[in-house]
Amino acid sequence: MIYTEEMRASQARVEATRNIRLSEELPRFTAEEKGELLRQYHPDYHEEGFAVLTAGPNKGDKVPKELAALLQGKSRMDTADVDLDHIQFETDVLVIGGGGAGAAAAIEAARHGARVLMATKLRLGDANTGMAEGGIQAADKENDSPAAHYLDAIGGGHYKNKPELLAELVLHGPEAIHWLSSLGVLFDKDSDGSMVTTHGGGTSRKRMHACGDYTGAEIMRVLRDEVRNAGVDVVEYSPAVELLLDGEGQAAGAVLYDFDTHEYHVVRAKSVIIATGGAGRLHYQGFPTSNHYGSTADGLVMAYRAGVPLIYADAIQYHPTGAAYPPQIYGALVTEKVRSLGAMLVNKNGEAFLHPLETRDVVAAAIIRECQERDKGIYALHGPAVWLDTPMVDLINGEGTMEKRLPAMIHMYEKFGIDIRKQPILVYPTLHYQNGGICIGAKSETKIPGLYAAGEDVGGIHGTNRLMGNSLLDIIVFGRIAGMEAASYSQTAQPGKGTLDHVRRFDQEREAAGIHDDILSPKLLPNYTHNRGTRG
Ligand code: FUM
Repeated sequence: MIYTEEMRASQARVEATRNIRLSEELPRFTAEEKGELLRQYHPDYHEEGFAVLTAGPNKGDKVPKELAALLQGKSRMDTADVDLDHIQFETDVLVIGGGGAGAAAAIEAARHGARVLMATKLRLGDANTGMAEGGIQAADKENDSPAAHYLDAIGGGHYKNKPELLAELVLHGPEAIHWLSSLGVLFDKDSDGSMVTTHGGGTSRKRMHACGDYTGAEIMRVLRDEVRNAGVDVVEYSPAVELLLDGEGQAAGAVLYDFDTHEYHVVRAKSVIIATGGAGRLHYQGFPTSNHYGSTADGLVMAYRAGVPLIYADAIQYHPTGAAYPPQIYGALVTEKVRSLGAMLVNKNGEAFLHPLETRDVVAAAIIRECQERDKGIYALHGPAVWLDTPMVDLINGEGTMEKRLPAMIHMYEKFGIDIRKQPILVYPTLHYQNGGICIGAKSETKIPGLYAAGEDVGGIHGTNRLMGNSLLDIIVFGRIAGMEAASYSQTAQPGKGTLDHVRRFDQEREAAGIHDDILSPKLLPNYTHNRGTRG
């Protein structure tokens, strides 16, 4: 048996209270209670986890320390060593990043007649998209509307969402589902053919569309095929390390680093789309992460060095239910869909301590409080954790529900001898998402002509706290917009020769700010010889 004696004794208390809890209607927190909880327990309020930037467009703003070091880091390249006249690739649209946003952008750019080159750090599809589980929001049911979706998301985002971006997101939601279905994504359907939808934290309507609990893998499967069908050229294992700007400050391409040959390759492009994803592998404040191995904020670094501001880069999402035990899956995502289907969060005494579908930041803070202040967590490897009472799902929805709707979760745990249909599991917040990122407008455009961005590396859509399922939606909506806009821009754009002058200028700015360290960025890959991502 994998659980310790203490865990088994606590599990028995969870089982003993289950029947009472099944009929329990848990109250929601008031706005005041939420505010206080966040201020005291959410990691975004731990000042020691942040540093103030002293160079670049966001000078004076605070961001996580690990991100600050990279944003103000030194270029990996010695700019004098790269022959910018030796052009290996020439294209209309260069897409940097091989996840869902990059793929959606590449497909649309190609469909709009552009020559498209996609440069990926690892393989096409190696990204957070493929690891997304619970679903994608879209207001396409009769009792729902984009306006209701907008209100939910802006409330969840603490009213900080950029209205024009959020409007774009929700208005294009139904169309995004239709587009994905038409490409072959197999969403869960009822016997009458209608989409199965569920709630997520902070939603007023059931608008979460899913493919079991492997929604991102199914979407990425289809997008990956479609990139190839659309005739996009894909260069794998070749992360971009710097953007190229011409003498007028317009996007003109990028420099790629070939992981196999260790050479730099120059790409000349009329427009560039950054879609490099998240930053979980920076392990802010020592948290484990649910993120893909390549999530190291590369796009933020390249854009920042080129002068593009970031928005809400200090707003980080800790998913409330990361696996806390067993050690082999420490930090892995336990989808919010488990709570959408009725599972409660329960402390070591078998007491439910909050409504399971509060917004993510609030749930994460409440779990941390339960473990730290109230000492009601169960010790699990890296610190205390709480129970997610998974057997409730079948009790509420009928036997077989978990098998049908949460097969990946069952599979993840059965490898370790844990049957989540019968036993609760231990969870604790895990670093999941960057709410902020590169500043864009409603056309996915940045302040640099010809430079676009989409996906997790952009900020503003979700304010300072994204709701579940709005990320899979934003990669499709803004990925497609970026692709169409970049293709259209490329029809008339005639950028001059690409230069690295902005990199040299940034270097001078860091010198002037007294930054003399040798931290190289973008980071490209995490280094686990020094940092194993263990929370303190
Ligand atoms: O819990 C989840 O399935 C995660 C979804 C999301 O981040 O959107």
